[in-house]
Amino acid sequence: MSIIKDEIIKLLNGQLNKELYSASLYFNMAGWCDKQGLKGCSKFLYGHYKEETEHFDKFRDFINKVGGQSIIGEMHAPQNDFKSIEDLFDTIVKHEQYITSCINELVGKAMESKDYITSRFLDWFIQEQLEEEELFNDIVVKINMLGKGNLEGRNLYTFDKAMGALDTERHSNSIDINMQ
Ligand SMILES: [Fe+2]
Repeated sequence: MSIIKDEIIKLLNGQLNKELYSASLYFNMAGWCDKQGLKGCSKFLYGHYKEETEHFDKFRDFINKVGGQSIIGEMHAPQNDFKSIEDLFDTIVKHEQYITSCINELVGKAMESKDYITSRFLDWFIQEQLEEEELFNDIVVKINMLGKGNLEGRNLYTFDKAMGALDTERHSNSIDINMQ
């Protein structure tokens, strides 16, 4: 007997799978960057891959704790090729917007069925999505500042270096471009 409704557990499992998909997407993106020699971006994205696996684990723990069964379902292969670094980060912004809408939807469903245990659990994710969107929007702004449509050469090098430095201080939600 589970503590929360089966219908909500099903939705939570849906989100668990989306978190795993997010991790896999960042994993593929990091590999692409590494191949392009963009070691800073690669380091940042592998860090982000790890964060997504932590989100995945949070859903697993919660589902199991409330007496449900956490289940990984079928997943389509995440994108592994990108036109440019701009294209890659645009893809991330769209993906994170989608994830935010999924979390919002989930909160709505939990509230509808007066499931305050689940809605409280989801509070953390609401805050996390705000930070994610803020961070990636800032990165896209910086990309456009450095070279809208054609980030290359020295500016691409500078951007990559800033991304590598961001990895350790990711909760600042802003990248520091040092042109020196
Ligand atoms: Fe996530």
